[in-house]
Amino acid sequence: MSYNLLKGKKGIIFGALDEKSIAWKVAMRAKEEGAEFVLTNAPLAMRMGEINKLAEACNAQVIPADATSVEDLENLFSKAQEILGGKIDFVLHSIGMSPNIRKGKTYGDLNYDWFQKTLDISALSFHKVMHVAEKQDAMNEWGSILALSYIAAQRVFPDYTDMSQAKAVLESIARNYGYRFGKLKKVRVNTISQSPTKTTAGTGVGGFDAFYDYADKMSPLGNASAETCADYCITLFSDLTKMVTMQNLMHDGGFSTMGVSEDVVEMISKQS
Ligand code: NAI
Repeated sequence: MSYNLLKGKKGIIFGALDEKSIAWKVAMRAKEEGAEFVLTNAPLAMRMGEINKLAEACNAQVIPADATSVEDLENLFSKAQEILGGKIDFVLHSIGMSPNIRKGKTYGDLNYDWFQKTLDISALSFHKVMHVAEKQDAMNEWGSILALSYIAAQRVFPDYTDMSQAKAVLESIARNYGYRFGKLKKVRVNTISQSPTKTTAGTGVGGFDAFYDYADKMSPLGNASAETCADYCITLFSDLTKMVTMQNLMHDGGFSTMGVSEDVVEMISKQS
C-alpha cells in the first residue's frame, strides 16, 4: 500500500545486488511511495547482479561507484544531482563485505589486509559518502541518511568476525557525522540494526542458518524480513521522522531485548 510518503523526494540507493538484497526492496518501496532516485553499486557487482532489471522497474538510472573511492563518489553525487534535477533528500548505504568471511578465516586467524578492506568497504565508505555529500553541498535541509547494521556491533557472534568491528565503526560514524550534518544542514543520520536476513551478504556468514533460526526463536515477533526493513527505511526517509538522528535503531522483532525465550529453552531441553 502506498501513502505517498516520499512524494517529490530525490535519493541515492547503494547496494541492490539482486532481488533478495535489502536495498532492492527499499528501491521498490521508495518508488511506490513516489520517490525519484538513482541506483548505484560497485562496478564488479553490476556485472554479476541484476540491477538493470530493478532500474527498469523503478524507472531509475544506474551510476556505478566503488563506495571506497572518493573519486567515484564525487562522480556519483554530481551525476545524481544532474539526473534528478536538484539536491538529494535521502541516501541508503546498504553495503557490506568481508574478504575474511568470504575466505572462511576464523577470528584468531584474520588476514589484516583483508581486515582493512572489510572496514573500508563496510564502514569507512559511509564516512566517505557523507564527506562527499557535504563537500558538494548535495543534501537538502531535513534530508535523511541511513546505513544498515547488525547487533554483532554490540554482542558477540563468533562467525561474524571482523564485520563486528566494521558495524561498530559504522554506528559510531552515524553518531559523529549525525552531529555534524545536523548542525550544518538539519540532515539526520541513523543506522538500522536488522535481523539476520537471507541475502547474499547474510548467507555468506558461517553458520548463518543456525543463527537465523536461533534469532527467529528468540524474538517474540520472529525475524524481521527484508520487506519490513524496507518499510522502516521508508519511514526514516519520510517527513514523519524529522527529529530522529544519531540513533542505532533496532529492527529485530524484539531480539535485542530478550534474555532467553520459551522456544529456545524448549529447543535446548529436547536436545539434552
Ligand atoms: P547484499 O549482498 O544483497 O548487499 C550487499 C551489497 O554491498 C551488494 O550489493 C554489494 O555489491 C555491495 N558492495 C560490496 N562492496 C561494495 C563496494 N566496494 N562499493 C559499493 N557497494 C559494494 O546483502 P544485504 O543483506 O542486502 O546487505 C545490505 C546491508 O545490510 C549490509 O550492510 C549488511 O551488512 C546489512 N545487514 C544484513 C543482514 C543480513 O543478515 N543479511 C543483517 C543486518 C545487516
